[in-house]
Amino acid sequence: MKCIRRAMSSIPQYDTRLLKVKPESIIFSKNGSLPQITDKETESNLQQASNELKLLNVIGFPTETVYGLGGSALSDQSVQSIYKAKNRPADNPLIVHISSIQQLKSKLLPQDYEIPPIYEKLIAKFWPGPLTILLPNDPKNSPISSYVTGNQDTFAVRMPQHPVARAIIAISDLPLAAPSANSSTKPSPTLAKHVMHDLQGKIPLVVDGGSCNIGVESTVVDGLSSPPMLLRPGGISLEEIKSVGGPEWENIQIYKKTGGVEENEKVKTPGMKYKHYSPNAKVILFINCGDGLKAMQDYIEKHKLNPQNIALLKSKQFKDLENISIIKNLGFKGEEISQNLFKYLREVDELEIEYIFVEGIDETNEGLAIMNRLNKAAVDVVYM
Ligand code: TXA
Ligand code: MG
Repeated sequence: MKCIRRAMSSIPQYDTRLLKVKPESIIFSKNGSLPQITDKETESNLQQASNELKLLNVIGFPTETVYGLGGSALSDQSVQSIYKAKNRPADNPLIVHISSIQQLKSKLLPQDYEIPPIYEKLIAKFWPGPLTILLPNDPKNSPISSYVTGNQDTFAVRMPQHPVARAIIAISDLPLAAPSANSSTKPSPTLAKHVMHDLQGKIPLVVDGGSCNIGVESTVVDGLSSPPMLLRPGGISLEEIKSVGGPEWENIQIYKKTGGVEENEKVKTPGMKYKHYSPNAKVILFINCGDGLKAMQDYIEKHKLNPQNIALLKSKQFKDLENISIIKNLGFKGEEISQNLFKYLREVDELEIEYIFVEGIDETNEGLAIMNRLNKAAVDVVYM
């Protein structure tokens, strides 16, 4: 025990390996727990990733939402290494990722335990996929590390759709605790190079499986509470949960932190909030500002900004503002905007500008998750 503690108190330095794999070469059959892999290099690289996990190390890997930083959910050492590499405060519980329902049952749940029926339709439709559910956890008897759950009486679990994520979990036969693979406070990574940018030297290995096609994290729902709750909007929309989940989900409530914090987020002032999804440049979010020209101009004048130090991420309605030369289009559809959001925040941040103006969108469908991330990333929100 002593020995482990000593080892963990110093941050290991790694010569981080970046291993490319071909997601299309990985095939899961409907019932098979292990995938068939047709590309030799992919097979060997997934094996190396799996070996690291078995050694209780942590690795970066792609999921359909964002890149994850995974370690065995059954090992205190692995989970502590996750927090350490990310520099994440340990007060926020992690999601456990599984490769099959069979694995969930055999590795994580008590014998003969039945998954609550309220989840049946959601699991049938959205697993594998970007939906995370809460299940009961008995901290005294659970095989899950208490660092994953923060000793709570529930744990969060999802079955990722990305073949690389599922293959690594299946081959290692380890349920993986995996937050997004960014340094704490930074935008989530949707490309392997984002993971390298943040975590190179801090972890032994990153598996590069290309870009994440959803681009924001999974939706987290709690079906154990009555009424059921949406804890975090994400890759599956609230509208989809309501229409697929069955009658119990029709009155799902959106979780708001106590004390009206969520509401207050709309009147926040620079520097006053806990940072999340934040690039180095200050994100200014514009909501309901039409074509944006007047709102942006007023903001620039009021705060005496130099337009050369501003990048603009626009989507549906904003027009280009003269003097701002760095302008990127996030897309018109929610799907595109989700895919591009974190990537473009990182891209323009590399240009060392001081401000990123972002056009807000409606909070319907994908818009709810997008605006949730933008509200957290923003140091200032402008309404008209
Ligand atoms: O898409 C995703 O979910 C990504 C990829 C890598 O799979 N993972 C991810 O994990 O975003 P993480 O650990 O950053 O997100 C955990 C979320 C947080 O909002 C946390 O509060 C919630 O899940 N959560 C985890 N366990 C919980 C629990 N027992 N009760 C309530 N919320 C929980
Ligand atoms: Mg995260």
